Amino acid sequence: MTEREDYKVADMSLAAEGQVRMDWAWQHMPVMRLIRERETEGGRLPLKGHTIACCLHLEAKTACLLRTLKDLGATIAASGSNPLSTQDPICAALADYGVHVFSWHGMNAAEYNENLERMLAWEPDIIIDDGCDTVAMIHDKHEDMIPKILGGCEETTTGIKRLAAMDAEGLLKFPMLAVNDAMSKYLFDNRYGTGQSVWDAIMRTTNCVIAGKTVVVCGYGWCGKGVASRADGLGAKVAVTEVSPHRALEAHMDGYRVMDMLQASEVGEIFVTVTGNTRVIRREHCERMKDGAILANAGHFDVEVCIPDLADMAVKTYDSRKNIRTYEMADGRRIHLLGEGRLANLAAGDGHPIEIMDMSFATQLLCALHIAKGSEMKKGLQVVPAFLDDIVARYKTESLGIRLEKLTQEQERYLRDWRG
Ligand code: ADE
Repeated sequence: MTEREDYKVADMSLAAEGQVRMDWAWQHMPVMRLIRERETEGGRLPLKGHTIACCLHLEAKTACLLRTLKDLGATIAASGSNPLSTQDPICAALADYGVHVFSWHGMNAAEYNENLERMLAWEPDIIIDDGCDTVAMIHDKHEDMIPKILGGCEETTTGIKRLAAMDAEGLLKFPMLAVNDAMSKYLFDNRYGTGQSVWDAIMRTTNCVIAGKTVVVCGYGWCGKGVASRADGLGAKVAVTEVSPHRALEAHMDGYRVMDMLQASEVGEIFVTVTGNTRVIRREHCERMKDGAILANAGHFDVEVCIPDLADMAVKTYDSRKNIRTYEMADGRRIHLLGEGRLANLAAGDGHPIEIMDMSFATQLLCALHIAKGSEMKKGLQVVPAFLDDIVARYKTESLGIRLEKLTQEQERYLRDWRG
């Protein structure tokens, strides 16, 4: 087991800057504020005595979650879930606040794993994961930690896919709540969050117009739907690629052209991968692409664009702008890759909008409280209890001043009556 350390960050002198970024985010997180207020009523500390390991994108909104978990009494150990999404001022501010944080921008693969180990040296009893690397590492290398772990939650589609695969093999040894599959999460974060933040990142990175361009969206899950809809709103001509016939038909009836990757390669000017799968854009696609094609990935891992194929085909590579690597082919065509093929919205932007992450993190927070209360849960992948999902949506509508219609007694009776 790795020695326990307090924290390891790039530069503690950045703490004040990180604090300012966190203060801005907190102003736009009404759901989290409400939960914090209600949970600490009368000086209660509902997470006291618990240690929570959080492997997340360490930027301002996440820092607000970690700070809240600590304010509710928990000891927090954190590591960054992606080397390019880690923001050094945020890590410094968190360390200053007493969070045991182990991460820095641009850490390499070995450092990433060492930081996960440093986080686990705090021997957590609750896990908050993004992408499933923490849960996989515990099961692979630290089985001795499992008896102490009460449970955890996972917020990404990719992470859920990995957990489901572990569970199918009977290997997942503690309860994991599928936050990604809660309505308060996927209906907003995956669709509107990814939809907005991916285009924000592409626009600020390239400084190019979107209107009139042909955009290819690879994958039409909730994230793909959001990316396509926002591209459409910006005036792009949208094409979708899909492996599922149902989703392909959905895209078709939503008004987009649907084609396979070989066809799409010839027409696309901007490509966004959102499949959660590997090698979606490969050599045979890059061979057909137009000069100037822009590639951005919005899936969790940097495997959707096959970077080794690009590197192998290129006669020259260089940085055209910050976060844009250009691969020049023998025939002179240039293909531009954003944010090293990592999640573009976080590698080349600030991630999802704050109000969206407020709901996702509120769901994580309620899940952590639910686990800490000793609620009965079976081991394996579990759905988030509907009443927790409801609380988040209700607090959000409350914060927006939205008044909900109430069922009358007659309507309630009618809904219960099967006789008609
Ligand atoms: N900011 C923090 N976590 C994020 C996530 N999982 N996706 C997008 N933005 C984020």
